Amino acid sequence: MKITFLTRDGDKVETDGAAGDSLLAVAQAAGMPLEGTCEGQMACSTCHVIVAREWFVKLPEASEEEEDMLDLAADVQPTSRLSCQIVLDKEMDGLTVRIPDASVNAQGF
Ligand code: FES
Repeated sequence: MKITFLTRDGDKVETDGAAGDSLLAVAQAAGMPLEGTCEGQMACSTCHVIVAREWFVKLPEASEEEEDMLDLAADVQPTSRLSCQIVLDKEMDGLTVRIPDASVNAQGF
């Protein structure tokens, strides 16, 4: 399925993902600058992305832990999510997310 990333420079990067992949892994494979320092443990927020509004409403809702971690991320928007918590399924073909302007590592390194 097709996933589109909008970079900090305003470029559009289209890539392929498979059902079951985490959005973070797909972003990293496409060369996006998401550190994902905690490897999906919801302890860093360096995997923060801003989801296109039309897609945000279609995604499964964020857990309370994810919301708490997003509170610590930089450049948080109403449609922000942690990409490590989004697991692709076939309904997500065409998903578009933006890489935030800044990322902050809540673990402090
Ligand atoms: Fe750390 Fe997603 S990789 S919160």
